[in-house]
Amino acid sequence: MPLKDYLITEEPYYQSTGKEIAHFEAAYADRMPIMLKGPTGCGKTRFVEHIAYRLRKPLVTVSCHEDMTASDLVGRYLLDANGTVWQDGPLTLAVRHGAICYLDEIVEARQDTTVVIHSLTDDRRILSLEKKNEVVRAHPDFQLVISYNPGYQSVLKDLKESTKQRFGAIDFSYPSAKLEAEIVCHESGVEQAVADKLVKIAERSRNLRGHGLEEGASTRMLIHVGQLINRGVPLGEACDVALVLPITDDPDIRSALGSAISACA
Ligand SMILES: Nc1ncnc2c1ncn2[C@@H]1O[C@H](COP(=O)(O)OP(=O)(O)OP(=O)(O)O)[C@@H](O)[C@H]1O
Ligand SMILES: [Mg+2]
Repeated sequence: MPLKDYLITEEPYYQSTGKEIAHFEAAYADRMPIMLKGPTGCGKTRFVEHIAYRLRKPLVTVSCHEDMTASDLVGRYLLDANGTVWQDGPLTLAVRHGAICYLDEIVEARQDTTVVIHSLTDDRRILSLEKKNEVVRAHPDFQLVISYNPGYQSVLKDLKESTKQRFGAIDFSYPSAKLEAEIVCHESGVEQAVADKLVKIAERSRNLRGHGLEEGASTRMLIHVGQLINRGVPLGEACDVALVLPITDDPDIRSALGSAISACA
């Protein structure tokens, strides 16, 4: 199989928080395009890795950014000693060989890239390589998954209606306190009592959302704090390094977070 390097061979740890696995698997059965919505660090990437493992499908991930062009996705001609050779981009690879293609932060990409995915995400399931004058019919196993952080996008960067309406969506949010503590224990190695404290701190920070913080501390941040604690850094200092300082520069919010941490520690 040409994409065997993209197969995930060990089960990625994933703590399910609802019916997302069943919903995704049902959508995959019809190769329905899916968007994963939710704030940063809440498990979207881990989920897609886990699901690709469960379905035994290769996973091709592309992190989208504002300078990304359609050619970065579909491919381009490269110069070599014998002239020019075509090189498939990551999306084309997935389409040809039947992978799940995960476009992370799709709204960051330029408009011309979203146009490329339109013919792939309706019943045509084709990708046009205009420069190469080729039309690639999607492999039966191909599926497109995109992720989207609804919170931070400006109106300008919202997905076009015609793009949105091609996808089913699964909402992600932070797990319940109990599950989040389990995740933090598993991923950072701290003991349960410490993880419980970190989750309480995160909840406080999430209440500051819209009151000085754009987003509260993510599960990812709690894991970072836990990792520092595991290396012998005291809890308060670990919270400073991995949570308070990265999340805000505002002295008042820093001190509000500091008080929340002292109250929970
Ligand atoms: N439900 C979960 N099960 C297992 N681990 C989780 C879960 N949620 C979060 N994590 C942990 O949190 C970390 C961050 O999650 P992940 O990278 O999937 O976030 P994300 O939603 O993709 O964020 P971003 O939007 O910034 O890419 C993971 O590396 C994993 O350790
Ligand atoms: Mg991610």
